[in-house]
Amino acid sequence: MSGLQGKTALVSGAADGLGAAIADNLAASGARVVVLDRSADAIAQASKNSENTGLHFEQVDLTDAEDIAATMNRLSTAGFGFDILVNNAGGSLHTPRAFVEETDEDWARVMDLNVTAAVRLIRAVVPGMVDRAYGRIVNLGSKAGRYGSLFTGANYVAAKGAVQSMTLQLAQEFGPHGITCNAVCPGAILTPRVERLLSERQTSEQRARVLETIPTRRHGRVEDVAAAVAFFASEEAGFITGQLLDVNGGQGMSS
Ligand SMILES: NC(=O)c1ccc[n+]([C@@H]2O[C@H](COP(=O)([O-])OP(=O)(O)OC[C@H]3O[C@@H](n4cnc5c(N)ncnc54)[C@H](O)[C@@H]3O)[C@@H](O)[C@H]2O)c1
Repeated sequence: MSGLQGKTALVSGAADGLGAAIADNLAASGARVVVLDRSADAIAQASKNSENTGLHFEQVDLTDAEDIAATMNRLSTAGFGFDILVNNAGGSLHTPRAFVEETDEDWARVMDLNVTAAVRLIRAVVPGMVDRAYGRIVNLGSKAGRYGSLFTGANYVAAKGAVQSMTLQLAQEFGPHGITCNAVCPGAILTPRVERLLSERQTSEQRARVLETIPTRRHGRVEDVAAAVAFFASEEAGFITGQLLDVNGGQGMSS
């Protein structure tokens, strides 16, 4: 994407999984990328693995409001202002699928990471975007938030539904300031963590049947999601806002 050259991006939960591929893709297209992640091990691994030089890592727990505020203050003092925010941090946190087994604590943890962390990061970057009359916010929704889930629970589905509907509202509020807000909604992307979750929660027969419902007959790859995020994050996508883009091999049509 040529429209990423010279831009500065903030990507949450991006030392591993989808986020790492998103950060790498943006950096490879010429953006300076700040990666937020809680895990020191994942950060060490990602900084060793990545071939890109434009990555800057910050260790932060995105469920901790004070930690987020301190990190964003530190970044601002260091001269970072963000053209692009990718709210990637999230997940079902391996909480139970069965609704009646999900505790209040499960709901709070899943909402905190998927929804509240995104709200706090948006609040932190939007004033700078308004000043510069330019911004790209890309949220990670999910096939689960669009159609329900075969292997995660209602807490995760509701959290992604909230992220997706917030995307529509923010697109309308921020549009007049030159800021777009879109969401990428992946189906199952076979990271090692999702591979483990699927093998715990689905038999091999169920997995084969699920594959039959995906027109492309394969699960997603992190690169599939990174490419869609990079498009929404680019300057070229400036006339596209309030969109929820399914990246699920067409599986949504079978849901
Ligand atoms: N993997 C999939 O199949 C899939 C499908 C649909 C949507 N999604 C969404 O895509 C996003 C990324 O998913 P993933 O599977 O790559 O995630 P993941 O669980 O692999 O986590 C990625 C990173 O987030 C970091 N992280 C976790 N909790 C954190 C916290 N409190 N503070 C800071 N960092 C934290 C982890 O250290 C890790 O490096 C999520 O929003 C997820 O809901 C994923």
